[in-house]
Amino acid sequence: MRVLQVASEAAPFAKTGGLADVAGSLPAALERIGCDCTLIMPAYRQVFEAGIPIEKTELVFDVPVGQRHLRAEIFRSTLPGSNVPVYFVGNEACFGRPTLYGGGHDYPDNAERFILFSRAAMELAGRLEKPFDVLHGHDWQAGLIPAYRRLLYQAWPMLAHAVTVQTIHNMAYQGTFWHWDMLLTGIDWKYFNWKQMECHGQLNFLKTGLVFADAITTVSPTYAREITEAPGGCGLEGVVASRAEVLSGIVNGIDTTVWDPQSDPLIPRHYHAADTSSGKDAARIALAARLGHPAPDPRPLVSFVGRLAEQKGVDLLVEMIARVAANGRAHFVILGTGDPGHEEALRRLAATYPGTVDVVIGFDELLAHLIQAASDIVLMPSRFEPCGLSQLYAFRYGAIPVVRATGGLVDTVVDATPESLANGTASGFVFESYNAVALEQALTRALDAHADAATWQRLVTSVMQQDWSWDTSGRNYLELYTQVLARSQAEPTFEPET
Ligand code: ADP
Ligand code: GLC
Repeated sequence: MRVLQVASEAAPFAKTGGLADVAGSLPAALERIGCDCTLIMPAYRQVFEAGIPIEKTELVFDVPVGQRHLRAEIFRSTLPGSNVPVYFVGNEACFGRPTLYGGGHDYPDNAERFILFSRAAMELAGRLEKPFDVLHGHDWQAGLIPAYRRLLYQAWPMLAHAVTVQTIHNMAYQGTFWHWDMLLTGIDWKYFNWKQMECHGQLNFLKTGLVFADAITTVSPTYAREITEAPGGCGLEGVVASRAEVLSGIVNGIDTTVWDPQSDPLIPRHYHAADTSSGKDAARIALAARLGHPAPDPRPLVSFVGRLAEQKGVDLLVEMIARVAANGRAHFVILGTGDPGHEEALRRLAATYPGTVDVVIGFDELLAHLIQAASDIVLMPSRFEPCGLSQLYAFRYGAIPVVRATGGLVDTVVDATPESLANGTASGFVFESYNAVALEQALTRALDAHADAATWQRLVTSVMQQDWSWDTSGRNYLELYTQVLARSQAEPTFEPET
């Protein structure tokens, strides 16, 4: 089966969050189980700075974007640790910028940038040597792919028989633009209607993907249920619910060639489930040095690594730490970047509690790995969480997550109760209500468990032995592709409604 993945970011080439981790590892996982997989992403400036050889190809073509033709220069590399070809859509004016999507605000021409990207992906796929069976797009940036496949590229031999899959990694980012941007898509105005590409008067890329795709997936079964209703659906719950029969939730895997304390080149000493202490101690010493402390703090290390966005519960985090920092039970380390208000609140917290709260504002891959290895407890007080990868990395690195019961966190973390601790299924501390007191109570439970060394060691050993690699999730995607292909062969050609 020949599968094309289209994503706006993929590790290790360019990353702002978990989408990059998934797009950078799913193709290799699919290759391992027999798929012929190709990845297409934009040629951002970051791609050329990632330290991986990238070559320029002979492929250069013009892509119609509204009245203009924008040049797409195609670069090529291989996904590290695999044979998966990666093609990069280059256009210096669109992608040679300091950040992927904009700074504090989105770039004003993001519609144009991702129309160019997705249309160039179709043009490129149509020029490659063999036809594709599946076009799999991720998030709003690839939301036009299913519509392009049906409406503009249905006669291209390399694309004519391909089915489309749209994956939602986050319903809160939909790619909504003013209606005149519809003219840039090259798609007929008649599709700008409430049943297809329009939403509250705006052009909506994600909705377009949801309406035109042959199958829709999201990154956990619980999130798949949550997005069929408000508030989870972020206004698109009706659209999602109307396509419930083609919607499924597949929990993300983790890339164990990148995230594994037994081989991670970004941590000072490797370790495994049978003996964590020397490796975790070495990580703490390195982390303390990095944070400017003479020696590691002997108290339990509680961390948060993530985008400083409303989704992540940063307001709860700040409020809870302000309540408990003075009680002296834990040391907090926070790494993140995002909303300037959250950044400022965290900086203030660090200034108020020096020696107890460390805050690093920025994006730092090495530090993210070091923090996971050094941590005892990882906080994820998310307002919503489609899947979440940090809790899965925490398991692997022998840190115990404290999470809110939402989305993929429900599907991956089992609350530690006397029963679950006794039968060995416990894997974290879960709280329900979105408030700082509930978070504090869950953290207190975790710290109490930590104080009992035997209980804690059993918990750590058991989470480290869990398997969240791509083996299962990759097979689930392959099964889904097989079903969608079988369905499309059995059913008459879809006629888009207007
Ligand atoms: P999301 O995709 O919503 O951001 P996930 O938990 O799925 O959340 O994935 C987050 C990924 O981004 C993880 O690999 C995490 O380590 C990484 N990450 C987030 N913020 C930072 C940061 N400031 N520095 C380094 N890595 C980060
Ligand atoms: C999104 C979600 C996160 C998920 C990631 C990868 O950014 O916020 O929960 O793990 O995508 O699917």
